[in-house]
Amino acid sequence: KFLTAAALALSVSAGAVAAACDDGEIVIKFSHVTNTDKHPKGIAASLLMERVNEEMNGKACMEVFPNSTLYDDDKVLEAMLQGDVQMAAPSLSKFEQFTKVFRIFDLPFMFKNIEAVDAFQNSETGQAMKASMERRGLLGLQFWHNGMKQMSANKPLVLPSDAAGLKFRVQPSEVIKAQMEAIGVSPQPMAFSEVYGALQTGVVDGQENTWSNIYGQKFFEVQDGITETNHGIIDYMVVTSVDWWESLDADVRDQLATILEEVTVERNAAVGQVDAEARQAVLDAGSKIVELTPDQRQAWVDAMKPVWDQFIDDVGQENVDAAQAINA
Ligand code: LMR
Repeated sequence: KFLTAAALALSVSAGAVAAACDDGEIVIKFSHVTNTDKHPKGIAASLLMERVNEEMNGKACMEVFPNSTLYDDDKVLEAMLQGDVQMAAPSLSKFEQFTKVFRIFDLPFMFKNIEAVDAFQNSETGQAMKASMERRGLLGLQFWHNGMKQMSANKPLVLPSDAAGLKFRVQPSEVIKAQMEAIGVSPQPMAFSEVYGALQTGVVDGQENTWSNIYGQKFFEVQDGITETNHGIIDYMVVTSVDWWESLDADVRDQLATILEEVTVERNAAVGQVDAEARQAVLDAGSKIVELTPDQRQAWVDAMKPVWDQFIDDVGQENVDAAQAINA
């Protein structure tokens, strides 16, 4: 069942099932929506698969389905509850149907960088969030990082007023919808796999995402400017179903949890580099990046930050205060 590194890379990049499982092994299907190259989640999921298949051979076998080849994020959590998939790592914006505690991560300008997000998640409050969906059958195992979000559109944006009247694709998050409305943008929730086509055909004018997603999905090809706003974050929760997790023998569960934790620590420490490489790849492809002066960036802060007030009851003033103390 061992695949050589080359065969593995080939099957992953083709979006195919990346391991052949033996009879008697516990099959762990991991479904996600991004590409695997120059992408924090893609790289982490592939590494997890490699290690599980090497170190748990005979006991468990992981198959990774990247690029939305198995499920879009709006379907994957239901599929997990049905037992059709065992692991996924949707962005924290995709859990609205299950919990509101993650809304703090979508609030614009809440965290100044990914290190601040990491520190918040490692606090008692952050760690407790992993258990916030247990009643609904889902268990958070680890947080995985991606990076800061940038704005892109079919015209260069310098000030938030430049975006007024445009339509932007958003993830299905009430906070992100409110953030877009605050700058006069019409938010259009849409699956990640549909964004490139929607930008290309003009169904939407723009979108917000991280460098690795802008690069990996080739959004830069169908946008006329990317503004380095760093206004928010995309971060993930590696999630499983409570039923499945509890069905595992303790030794299998412990080994899997340990491998996942080690992969998390290793890959979360490397996201800055992956992000920088993706940004550079976008530049090398000939895209224009609008870098903001402090005054221009402040205009985005002034326009978007008032949405915090709308969600304060969901996220808790004490958590906002804790996040701000970490930023300081
Ligand atoms: C998006 O839908 O834009 C992102 O959540 C995709 C991802 O998984 O990074």
